[in-house]
Amino acid sequence: AKKEDFAVQAPAGVFVETVTSVEHYTDRLFRFRMTRPKEFRFRSGEFAMIGLMVGDKPIYRAYSIASPAWDEELEFFSIKVPDGPLTSHLQGIKPGDQVLMRKKPTGTLVLDALVPGRRLYMFSTGTGIAPFASLIRDPETFEKFEEVILTHTCRDVAELKYGFDLVDEIRNHEFLNEVVGNKLRHYATVTREDYSYKGRITDLMNNGKFFADLGLQPLDPVIDRGMICGSTAMLKDTKEILEAAGLTEGANNKPAEFVIERAFVG
Ligand code: A2P
Repeated sequence: AKKEDFAVQAPAGVFVETVTSVEHYTDRLFRFRMTRPKEFRFRSGEFAMIGLMVGDKPIYRAYSIASPAWDEELEFFSIKVPDGPLTSHLQGIKPGDQVLMRKKPTGTLVLDALVPGRRLYMFSTGTGIAPFASLIRDPETFEKFEEVILTHTCRDVAELKYGFDLVDEIRNHEFLNEVVGNKLRHYATVTREDYSYKGRITDLMNNGKFFADLGLQPLDPVIDRGMICGSTAMLKDTKEILEAAGLTEGANNKPAEFVIERAFVG
């Protein structure tokens, strides 16, 4: 269908935005950027419902916004599920194509849902790094915390590239690099390929290797805060470790020591 047709078909009350760039990392992962409606406001770490017209029906899926709140475009990091209702179509988008976005963002991985602390841990697997891609490009994160530790675990090294590119981008960004300085640490591991950092983050916390590698003390509910984003099983296992260390789960209306969001698939 022509673009004009698409915009006409699109349901009322949703934004129709234009894709500006697409980068494929592996046969399972890609990122895309699109235009941002002027009136669309969100807090770094939130997600939005992103969709496409499939036939004559809109299909939506929750996507963490990977770009920071100050960015004039919107970025998303996506899995490609071969028979996924949305991602099987979304993986084919090209610059110039149109994407739907529902108007209201939401989510719990926001700085407001945490009580003040000294160090912020961001635990992610796979596309679960997306909300943290937003938060580590937001100066407010570094105003609130002295140290930010981003962990990312994927099956293989190629899947880590989005995270490495992100940290490079910050280092090469004049303003952000100044704000972030040496407060950001990136700990990337893989589980299904040989690499210098190997294993699930949960196992590496339980056996102490993670803390030893970074020269950190065990988790301390007085100074440490956490955000977790990954598969359902990863959330459960990571949450157990944080709770065993005495941290409690918070929410927007009840800030506490850590918050959780599932990385959406399909
Ligand atoms: P593993 O290879 O041992 O399953 P996926 O691509 O399937 O979403 O997985 C992303 C990463 O999350 C993989 O490295 C996977 O490790 C890891 N993972 C899966 N389940 C858990 C869990 N319960 N706790 C921590 N990491 C997990």
